[in-house]
Amino acid sequence: MQAHIVTLPGDYIGPEITAQAVKVLEAVANKYGHTFTFDERKLGGASIDAYGVPLTDETLDACNAADAVLMGSVGGPKWDGVAPAVRPEKGLLALRKGMQVFANLRPCTIHPQLSAACPLRPDIVSQPIDIMILRELTGDIYFGKRWRAEDRLSATDEMAYSAMEVERLARIGFEMAKKRRGKLCSVDKANVLECSRLWRETVQRLSAEYPEVEVTYMYVDNAAMQLILRPAQFDVMITGNLFGDILSDESAAIAGSLGMMPSASLGSGTRGLYEPIHGSAPDIAGQDIANPLGTILSGALLLRHSLGLEDEAKAIERAVSQVLDEGYRTADIFSAGCTKVGCTQMGDLVAARI
Ligand code: IPM
Ligand code: MG
Repeated sequence: MQAHIVTLPGDYIGPEITAQAVKVLEAVANKYGHTFTFDERKLGGASIDAYGVPLTDETLDACNAADAVLMGSVGGPKWDGVAPAVRPEKGLLALRKGMQVFANLRPCTIHPQLSAACPLRPDIVSQPIDIMILRELTGDIYFGKRWRAEDRLSATDEMAYSAMEVERLARIGFEMAKKRRGKLCSVDKANVLECSRLWRETVQRLSAEYPEVEVTYMYVDNAAMQLILRPAQFDVMITGNLFGDILSDESAAIAGSLGMMPSASLGSGTRGLYEPIHGSAPDIAGQDIANPLGTILSGALLLRHSLGLEDEAKAIERAVSQVLDEGYRTADIFSAGCTKVGCTQMGDLVAARI
């Protein structure tokens, strides 16, 4: 098949890790006889430096015309002084909103080879961990009005959700749970927040349409604790933008490293935005030591969800698993007895095993 992919390497380690994912996707194209064209554009700080804004209309249009978008990471100290309205992160948020990718899939599994990197007691992770965090991505406090009082001494950020926004996300969660282990945990703060009460009512209403799915409701503070105490209890978790941001980083700690975690952001069609969940890691940028596996695995999600290429997606996931089996590790997941490799070499190793 032919597919057109926009790449947005972004800032600091972004270009290093994105290059590895592109390399692996090219290996897939060669092996399976597909033609992938890549169109590299600027996002975040790189776009601020080039055009004065973190996302241009042209770049957004290019993303909306592509089959899929692969992103690295944005932000960093270089742009700490810029006005809030043009921060690098604003570019990413505007991209998510502009592509209308409201459903963010953040899978959390522990690669058995990396069990040494998991900080939890072995008895806690003795049962398989396979959690799908489904984070709402285009609403919540991320997109509400925010302002600072004239005297600069108080500030407000508005949190808002509509039933429609909750419903379209929750339906994806129910459908996923049906295909997985049939369990859905809806995470909110309904004991305090009105948005959360709307969230819970909406999920409760929908649950009648999915009798085969067992639904539980959990307050976000308890969910944060349960993830550490009994992570194996979770199958699909659905939650809002802010809670999902926090819980997905927590789940990354369980998996052993933020560097391993892929994500897919989808809207109503097949076009999606794919990015690792980690940031731009300014402290290790330019040293060729970043872990590209989260981005490479995001490439697998791209093949699966946007291009419908399940075998090819599995080929990437198998290649990553094989490289880990063979003992290759970037610094973040290194343990004694393994072979330490850099970012480029990790990309080469995975690509060679496609
Ligand atoms: C993430 C990141 C972003 C977010 C930042 C960079 C705006 O933390 O993708 O999880 O908060 O969504
Ligand atoms: Mg985050």
